[in-house]
Amino acid sequence: MPPRHDGQSFIVMANRLPVDRCRDSWHTAPGGLVSALAPIVKAESGAWIGWPGTCDETIEPFSADGMHLFPIPLSCAEHRQYYEGFSNSVLWPLYHDLIVAPQYRRDWWRTYEAVNARFAQAAIETAAYGATIWIHDYQLQLVPRMIRSQRRDVRIGFFNHIPFPPVGLVGQLPWREAVLDGLLGADVIGFQRESDVRNFRDASQRFLGIDPDRVSNVIDAYPISVDVDAIREAAESDSVARLSRQIRHDLGSPEVLMLGIDRLDYTKGIPQRLRAFEELLEDGVLAPETTMLTQVAVPSREGIGAYQDLRDEVERLVGRINGRFGTLERGVVQYFHQSYSFEATIASYLAADVLLVTSLRDGMNLVAKEFVTARQERGGALVLSEFAGAADELDRAVIVNPHDISGLKNGIREAAKLTGDDAHDQMAAMAGTVEDHDVHQWAQSFLNDLQNPVNAGLPFLKI
Ligand code: G6P
Repeated sequence: MPPRHDGQSFIVMANRLPVDRCRDSWHTAPGGLVSALAPIVKAESGAWIGWPGTCDETIEPFSADGMHLFPIPLSCAEHRQYYEGFSNSVLWPLYHDLIVAPQYRRDWWRTYEAVNARFAQAAIETAAYGATIWIHDYQLQLVPRMIRSQRRDVRIGFFNHIPFPPVGLVGQLPWREAVLDGLLGADVIGFQRESDVRNFRDASQRFLGIDPDRVSNVIDAYPISVDVDAIREAAESDSVARLSRQIRHDLGSPEVLMLGIDRLDYTKGIPQRLRAFEELLEDGVLAPETTMLTQVAVPSREGIGAYQDLRDEVERLVGRINGRFGTLERGVVQYFHQSYSFEATIASYLAADVLLVTSLRDGMNLVAKEFVTARQERGGALVLSEFAGAADELDRAVIVNPHDISGLKNGIREAAKLTGDDAHDQMAAMAGTVEDHDVHQWAQSFLNDLQNPVNAGLPFLKI
């Protein structure tokens, strides 16, 4: 297909469009990726290709908020097979260390291929000559090669937001060669952690026989971050400060308020966290009269059985803990199966003393970075799993192994006691780390390597 002269010169591709529909109008969706990329797409008058979030509906390209949006339709069967099936019941569990067992269904794979081809075709048709195309995440791993096979003129970047698993796990995937080759269609392939880069290089060598030192692709770690200015602005605002005081007061002004905020996902280690909290109450280390845990579980992927099972387990544990340690006046765990606005989330970071991030595996975990950014000089403590990408940078947190319940208990106990200058210094240091590497810097460094290949490394072989 010949490149169009009137095409788009900067294109972002992600499973979802950056807007949500509310009745007849579209609004910018919340979330880190959108806040990082939407300003760039707008400044470049660029385009975003993604699924609009509904099934069996064809929506013509439209503009919203200064972005050209190209909706990719999915039938309900494709949503089941490509999104709930291959993306979230095969790749998601496989890339998160098999916390649940992937179901390697061939019909799901065929639909994944077909939907990836539909995304790729949209980019092939809309990209201007020499355009920059930035593809995001595990739902679209075949797209780089599919575009490259028809458009040699464009620059293609791929960023994987979730972990890339060790070679022994990748090896299980019946379509491992196709996935690796799909990714290698990109000029720049970005991961969150150095360990993800190593895993990808090992897998390319093992399954494709490629020497990763002799390819022209740039394969590197670009740890994603948060919008520091937006978080600080909210944290400094009167309305958020008022709301945070209100939250704490309404909870009965506990001496120690712990907080967990996660998508309700089995990767987040919520049952492990609840069990550790329960045992600390049982042991008398934490006092139910003065300690409270607020757990926000944002509804996610509710059509998938493993997510329904997790919800049942979490709600059973919360009920059990409150049944054992609550009083008529109040429970010790406040549980919310809801999502909250950005302002309410920042207010809850300010209201809490301790944030519990106990992921069993997590690409980055932006909640941890948001928390330290919001708190800055306000002290408090972060309990952070070593299995979250954020642990590479936030090494002044209380680092825990969430599989080790005794170790997790020690970490929570240590965090609950962290007060005074030590806590302030650690929080301020972590806030400084995030400030030096915010989300805009993340996007710029990826795009620099993508758009200035000479800076990023010298080409050897074009594969
Ligand atoms: C993770 C993934 C994203 C995904 C998000 C929400 O952060 O890396 O690609 O969009 O979860 O999940 P959902 O399935 O609702 O898009």
